[in-house]
Amino acid sequence: MTHRHFALKPRRNPNSQEIGLRIANIFGRYFLKTDHLHYGYWPGDLPVTLENLPKAQELYADFLRRSIPEGVSSILDIGCGTGHNAEVLLGNGYRVDCVSPSAYLSEIVRKKLGDRGTLYECTFESLPPERKYDCLLFSESFQYIDLDTVFARMPEFLNPGGYVIISDFFRIPGEGTSAMGGGHRLSRFREKLAASPFHLLREEDITENTAPNLQLVNEALQQVAVPIRDLVIDELSNRHRWIWLPGKWFGKFFLRRKLDKLDYKYFSGSRNAENFKTHKRYCLFVLKQNSLEETASINRPAELDGAAS
Ligand SMILES: C[S@@+](CC[C@H](N)C(=O)[O-])C[C@H]1O[C@@H](n2cnc3c(N)ncnc32)[C@H](O)[C@@H]1O
Repeated sequence: MTHRHFALKPRRNPNSQEIGLRIANIFGRYFLKTDHLHYGYWPGDLPVTLENLPKAQELYADFLRRSIPEGVSSILDIGCGTGHNAEVLLGNGYRVDCVSPSAYLSEIVRKKLGDRGTLYECTFESLPPERKYDCLLFSESFQYIDLDTVFARMPEFLNPGGYVIISDFFRIPGEGTSAMGGGHRLSRFREKLAASPFHLLREEDITENTAPNLQLVNEALQQVAVPIRDLVIDELSNRHRWIWLPGKWFGKFFLRRKLDKLDYKYFSGSRNAENFKTHKRYCLFVLKQNSLEETASINRPAELDGAAS
């Protein structure tokens, strides 16, 4: 795979998104022999167990592949993770280039895809418009990119009448507090789409098929992370009282809101499928770029239509 480096600002410390992706990758590769970085697709008849996660993730890659419109031959996989979806698409005869701003993930992509396609090691925001594609793919990466920027830049990379596939979760108004961040507001996405040179070809709500992943995350947190946390706290508070008590006092006074938030998000049991379904919608959107005539008729003032008739 040809490697390109573009305007990637070197970061001394990885941000929390990058750390989360690395942990998911290390955990998945070691325990489950999978290196996908998405929620997977859970059909109703697949039991929600950790052992079935690799199967659900294969089903998701297949779901994405089947959503690619006929006639597409070149794809830009934006935020390609470990390159697994790209590998599946290459195996199905598509020409695929990848965008990856993560040095850690890019290393995995390079090993996996070799010289098949170009790997752009930068964010979508800083990607130079040097090639055009029939289809842009955002699989669980759309949420990381500013909406105005993404809609403004997509046409730069598309052949006329090209497609965009977005598979990701979005925020919806729901009662109570969401235990997880992330996702663009769905209503805002629809507004931006309506004002863009794209129209909707297909929309599918797959929240029910993706939320089971959160059940597994919650089980892992409750059965592994919480007991380990409690053990560590017990050990530290018994053995090192002279550090522990001032540390606790400091935390209570200066970091209380942050610690409460972390506790709610990760240890309270609220990061679960029900909470996800209340606050998020996981959707597949297939968009098509308007033709010049369509764009002209959308932008045409209504009085001109009256004059023409
Ligand atoms: C949850 S992973 C999804 C990976 C992969 N698409 C999949 O379906 O398994 C999110 C991906 O988005 C990438 N990403 C985050 N911010 C990005 C940006 N601004 N531009 C392009 N990719 C980005 C991350 O590096 C990572 O590869």
